[in-house]
Amino acid sequence: MATHKIAVVGGDGIGPEVIAEGLKVIEAAGVDVQLTNYDLGGARYLADGTILPDETLDEWRHHDAIYVGAVGAPGVPPGVIERGLLLKMRFELDLYINRRPFLLKGPGGHDFVVIRENTEGTYAGEGGFLRKNTPHEIATQGSVNTRRGAERAIRYAFELASTRRGHLTLVHKTNVLTFSGDLWQRAFDDVAKDFPDVETDYNHVDAACIYFVQDPQRYDVIVTDNLFGDILTDLGGAVSGGIGLASSANMDPTRSAPSMFEPVHGSAPDIAGQNKANPIAAILSGAMMLDFLGEADAAAAITAACNAHLDATGSTTEIGDLIAGVVRGH
Ligand code: IPM
Ligand code: MN
Repeated sequence: MATHKIAVVGGDGIGPEVIAEGLKVIEAAGVDVQLTNYDLGGARYLADGTILPDETLDEWRHHDAIYVGAVGAPGVPPGVIERGLLLKMRFELDLYINRRPFLLKGPGGHDFVVIRENTEGTYAGEGGFLRKNTPHEIATQGSVNTRRGAERAIRYAFELASTRRGHLTLVHKTNVLTFSGDLWQRAFDDVAKDFPDVETDYNHVDAACIYFVQDPQRYDVIVTDNLFGDILTDLGGAVSGGIGLASSANMDPTRSAPSMFEPVHGSAPDIAGQNKANPIAAILSGAMMLDFLGEADAAAAITAACNAHLDATGSTTEIGDLIAGVVRGH
């Protein structure tokens, strides 16, 4: 059995608590991992100014995956950790797919997946100030959309849809964003020709917000840009049992670089250190990591155990012990 080299960033707040449970469950599944811990995040930045050194990124390139809890701490100005750590990771390693699955509770348990483009759009950082701090100040924040960037996210989403229920929805705002929306729509229509068996649909993002709440059963796979995907996946978490259950994979499907797996939620400093956070999102993210590393059976066992206990109550460690127990007995 292969040993997987995992770089671990517990991070801030509840991050280390939920990652500890994720690792506990991975061990219970009998998967062989070799861990390297990295002390990074808001607290580290406040302590010595370190955010994400290039040498660390180089070390990560020699790992198989990166497992992140949550980063961000009170007292750090907005953008420092987000851009300097998380987005730097996504951009430098070219983790162009952000895959976020959702399972709706209740009979039938409908599931759907959002594929969020992860390296472009308004996140790219284009823009700046003119006449800053004057009454005539101007701020622009551009949206960068390359044909290649849109197309590779769209193609991944079509491939995924063809292995599922064969339905893919493009979400954008083509009625207003007539440049970027047009590029996305044309890329979508072109790639669709290679997938004649996948049924396609289009929703404006505002309408998609209504459907997420009132009719999520219409979705199988959704593909969308970086910012729409960010917002929609918080909504996805909210309508599928809460953000404490929402997992995510930041992936380079070409495997040129290690992919990164993290819960959608943040560091929740208000409940940090109280053994209160729900570790399910982190555990499910760990399962996505194992699946990507070729450990399909272990991943399926962990996912099934979590899905059977989405209502679990108790402390962080109690829920982790529960899932680990189910997985071990599998
Ligand atoms: C997410 C987060 C990040 C994002 C932040 C922390 C930069 O909200 O992963 O959804 O906006 O992508
Ligand atoms: Mn987000």
